[in-house]
Amino acid sequence: MQLFKRVDQLQAFLNAERVNNRSVGFIPTMGALHAGHLTLVKRSLAENQITVASIFVNPTQFNEANDLDRYPRTPGKDLQALAKVGCNVAFLPEVDDVYPPGLDTRLQIDLSGLDARMEGAQRPGHFDGVAQVVKRFLDIIQPENLYMGQKDYQQQLIIKQMVRVLDLPYRVITVPTVREEDGLALSSRNVLLDPEIRQRSVILYQTLLEAKKRLIKGELPKDIETWAMEALSQPGFRPEYFSIVDGHSLQPLPDQEELAELIVACTAVWAGEVRLIDNLPLRGNL
Ligand code: PAJ
Repeated sequence: MQLFKRVDQLQAFLNAERVNNRSVGFIPTMGALHAGHLTLVKRSLAENQITVASIFVNPTQFNEANDLDRYPRTPGKDLQALAKVGCNVAFLPEVDDVYPPGLDTRLQIDLSGLDARMEGAQRPGHFDGVAQVVKRFLDIIQPENLYMGQKDYQQQLIIKQMVRVLDLPYRVITVPTVREEDGLALSSRNVLLDPEIRQRSVILYQTLLEAKKRLIKGELPKDIETWAMEALSQPGFRPEYFSIVDGHSLQPLPDQEELAELIVACTAVWAGEVRLIDNLPLRGNL
């Protein structure tokens, strides 16, 4: 595996590979890699000749300094894990190279309201930072394929919207959520969970599954949301939202919810001091 810390070095390598018509797959990450990230890498390895994974804890998408400071960083272990699955290139740039002084990398694009609710409402500016950093990496790497996790449902939709409105020549592929055996979605933040809280954190997935059952039985989305917020309000847990939305527009469902072909439930819950998110399609497939 090649390791690059500088944009110009990575670009020189990729330019040489492109002469041979090699296709490039790209996986942006913030490190503290787990089996979920590695599934994206493996998918790219299967579909491209060169796979590039970046590890960069992007300061512009954190709206709380404390969250940025606490974000787990395990670069040594991450590089080992990437090399083990056969990743071709690891890119670990410095902040100054991603955001060089004098270069305006901010984006002003119409996200069609996709950033207005849920994570966008709870974390102002978060998706501007995500779109900014992913666009910057796409400009640098120019991959054929970009791999995003379904775990961050709203994020992958926003990146698809960005690619659409800027007419970028990249395919965005959404990879299903990888879960622990008990159903907890893998997340870099899981290592921060208190062990007792960790054990009970399966409640997010259980609530999503039960919401699906209730929707199939004909319960109204609004009533399911109310039920779920209560079900998630366990000692040590504090739900921020549980929203049942149209899977394309992320808008609340109209009264005749049978019109929506893709329905997704998304939730964010404080588990002790750690904020977890998860989602589940209740009807239809991505
Ligand atoms: P990070 O949280 O490190 O996630 C990197 C990618 O891995 C994202 O596309 C995320 O959806 C995916 N991922 C995380 N957990 C997963 C799981 N359990 N199953 C499947 N995929 C999973 O998301 C980010 O970083 C950042 O916002 C980033 C896109 C890198 C921009 O900074």
